[in-house]
Amino acid sequence: MSDIRIATAEDQVLLDKEAKYCSYGDTVHYIEPPRIFSRCEGSYVWDTEDQAYLDLQMWYSAVNFGYANPRLNNALKQQIDTLPQIASQYLHKGKIELSEMIAVDAKNKFGLDGRVHFNVGGSQSIEDSLKVVRNATNGKSLMFAFEGGYHGRTLGASSITSSYRYRRRYGHFGERAQFIPFPYHFRGPKGMTKEEYGSHCVQQFARLFETEYNGVWDPKVGQSEYAAFYVEPIQGTGGYVIPPMNFYRELKQVLDQHGILMVSDEIQMGFYRTGKLWSIEHFDVQPDVIVFGKALTNGLNPTGRYLGP
Ligand SMILES: Cc1ncc(COP(=O)(O)O)c(C=O)c1O
Repeated sequence: MSDIRIATAEDQVLLDKEAKYCSYGDTVHYIEPPRIFSRCEGSYVWDTEDQAYLDLQMWYSAVNFGYANPRLNNALKQQIDTLPQIASQYLHKGKIELSEMIAVDAKNKFGLDGRVHFNVGGSQSIEDSLKVVRNATNGKSLMFAFEGGYHGRTLGASSITSSYRYRRRYGHFGERAQFIPFPYHFRGPKGMTKEEYGSHCVQQFARLFETEYNGVWDPKVGQSEYAAFYVEPIQGTGGYVIPPMNFYRELKQVLDQHGILMVSDEIQMGFYRTGKLWSIEHFDVQPDVIVFGKALTNGLNPTGRYLGP
């Protein structure tokens, strides 16, 4: 996208330094010149010229509870003065009570008995969940994920993220995914209702298991080569796409029949982005692992977690 805006002299000094000293990741330079922001409140961020922008994405859902939320900011300030962090071999009340809250909630909603493991961000939690999945499936490293799916930029996470762009310069490091079409009804065949299209997509996926010649299933021993299906219940980075309501229920039946786990990546859509704690709650289905991060701390502290067996 081109932008006719000319940077102020003050911004230009910073932009020159940025060009020289900052890593030139592909997340930064979407527009030229990149904007420099200086403050935030509620749903708005302001640039250095005091122009307000409504952030419809809320920092990729890291800030679901609003920028500069006084209640949450004060809780963070109090925690910094009390006990900001502690080595993981030691315990503290907050970690235990938060784990309990999340685990009890998951038990009530999904019948899922699990423990909560903490890490420092979404991608890192995806990495941890990959370990859990491998451990639970005798080391299987192949996953299903969606076309358009996004799970992060660390090595394992970018291997199960559909964009080749994130892997192009680095190759593969172990994890691999087969990408399955996401049921985006708007782009589906003419004449199908949303639900029919949801079922159609599940049937297409189920075809993979019909015969050993379709490549993922050994019917002689009843085993799949694939360990888990990573889903974003509502696709985020891939375009904010809501699938048909019957889709996950039907998909999970196929996965259960073939011993494949369902991992719900709630990193972007969790923590009330969709009105419920977990976005998978809308779909009447029980995931096996939940991965979350971002808005748990409203973007104030880099944290992520997974909940799993
Ligand atoms: C669905 C999803 N999974 C994983 C991630 C990675 O999280 P992080 O950026 O905290 O590493 C993101 C980030 O946007 C995401 O949207």
